[in-house]
Amino acid sequence: MKVFIPRNDIKRKVKELAEKISSEYENGLVVIGVLKGAFVFMADFVRQLTCPVYIDFIKVSSYKGKETTGEINLELSCSIDLKGKDVLVVEDIVDTGITLSFIKEFLAEKDPKSLKVCCFLDKPERRKVDFIPDYVGFTIPNRFVVGYGLDCSEEYRSLPYIATLD
Ligand code: IMP
Ligand code: MG
Repeated sequence: MKVFIPRNDIKRKVKELAEKISSEYENGLVVIGVLKGAFVFMADFVRQLTCPVYIDFIKVSSYKGKETTGEINLELSCSIDLKGKDVLVVEDIVDTGITLSFIKEFLAEKDPKSLKVCCFLDKPERRKVDFIPDYVGFTIPNRFVVGYGLDCSEEYRSLPYIATLD
């Protein structure tokens, strides 16, 4: 296991994202974290926001067959009424884009005033569907990473940095 993004770089990036997003949502926003991976990034991120913030979560599971497009199942939906609200989905990583495309489509039906996505990490090389996150922490190459919420078979989520597993 090798450190890929150290703690201090993460801190600096989270602060930068929170400053930018706070200035764009002065009237407040609903932040929806995608469980489980987003929980660490989300906790750091919302504590740096200077605008009013409401917190909710969504949980999906994906069944990724060999080289198939993947099928997404909704396991937990958010409880805040999103109608007319500014909504920001927070996720750990965009890979194929399938999960966030599904989540965006699902949440759009709840009639929010705006709906954007902030991802801590982005692996654009792996996309299977068109999906462009509105805010990205770090764009990374096609490597499997863990830590800072991200897991490999439920391990390593509590590492305070991003590591590669090779
Ligand atoms: P997508 O639907 O392929 O974009 O899948 C995104 C999900 O796959 C993320 O929320 C992660 O749970 C998982 N994932 C993708 N790449 C990695 C990785 O490098 N490390 C850990 N989890 C990953
Ligand atoms: Mg995830």
